Amino acid sequence: MALKCAVELRIADIIHSHGGAPITLSQIASCIDDSPSPDIPYLSRIMRLLVRKNIFTVHHPLSDSSSSESTLYGLNHVSRWLLHGSDLSLTPMILMENHPWVVAPWHCLSTCVKEGGTSAFEKAHGRDAWDFASQNPEFNNMLNDGMACTSRIITRAILTGYKDGFGCIGSLVDVGGGTGTMVAEIVKSHPHIKATNFDLPHVIATAPLMDGVCHVGGDMFKEIPSADAVFMKWILHDWSDEDFGGGTGGIIGTIAEIVKTYPHIEGINFDLPRVVATAPDYDGASHVGGNMFESIPNADAAFHEGKYTMIEVT
Ligand SMILES: C[S@@+](CC[C@H](N)C(=O)[O-])C[C@H]1O[C@@H](n2cnc3c(N)ncnc32)[C@H](O)[C@@H]1O
Repeated sequence: MALKCAVELRIADIIHSHGGAPITLSQIASCIDDSPSPDIPYLSRIMRLLVRKNIFTVHHPLSDSSSSESTLYGLNHVSRWLLHGSDLSLTPMILMENHPWVVAPWHCLSTCVKEGGTSAFEKAHGRDAWDFASQNPEFNNMLNDGMACTSRIITRAILTGYKDGFGCIGSLVDVGGGTGTMVAEIVKSHPHIKATNFDLPHVIATAPLMDGVCHVGGDMFKEIPSADAVFMKWILHDWSDEDFGGGTGGIIGTIAEIVKTYPHIEGINFDLPRVVATAPDYDGASHVGGNMFESIPNADAAFHEGKYTMIEVT
């Protein structure tokens, strides 16, 4: 919450606007919007915590270092993520993660344990996050912006470290791609790729036009657009084994769709034995039970969720 406070008060931007050199609390306070007389002792307590967490730096230039008047606060490499409007800003994600709508489910954990069944989000809001977003434009925008800002950062890392895979595909679909930031960045570096951003219709309705990206709305549990490669970031964790992540239904259903379109591909659904034991049969897709930390079946391409989720075309 102190982080959210720093973002809302634009403290990093204020220090940055002074040339990035450390400044006093009074200088910070004098630049806070919509507050004729900010509470400096309060601000001091917030800053002390954020300094302890290594989000800002503190400097005591004078010998009487106890004087709060002379204490200076500066930016470090972490506080630079808090700059609004920068390419690498995480502010939309911080505001989203700390919004009461997103914090409310955390207060339902004991209810989840006692009652089981639906997710904490559903306990708090009566429906899942996607349904909630479809009916609440403010939440929809906040969620999409939060996701998009992380995508800008992660794409840079992926594009730096992962070149060959993108080089050898002609088309790519980002399934659950939000408003399309990820594929748009990929296409900038690999303009030969025909890119599709696929997400729920209410998300696609707010997606901006992007060079080289075709937005398609739909439900990935029913059908996904055809492409040489499927890309997913931060998707599989949102569903249970049974819905997704290999498992018995969802994603293996999606793999079955891919295999229908590209019958030369042999699809393998690999998951824990207890999960594949109840998986339904699909034409062209087989189930293998095992432990991915011991060995995984051989294939030309692996579809997996790790820190970054993607299909790797080898
Ligand atoms: C955690 S977000 C990840 C967004 C994006 N991949 C990123 O990392 O920035 C999950 C995304 O899945 C989308 N989604 C949820 N259910 C879906 C469905 N049935 N079909 C397609 N997309 C879905 C959501 O709208 C949301 O954009």
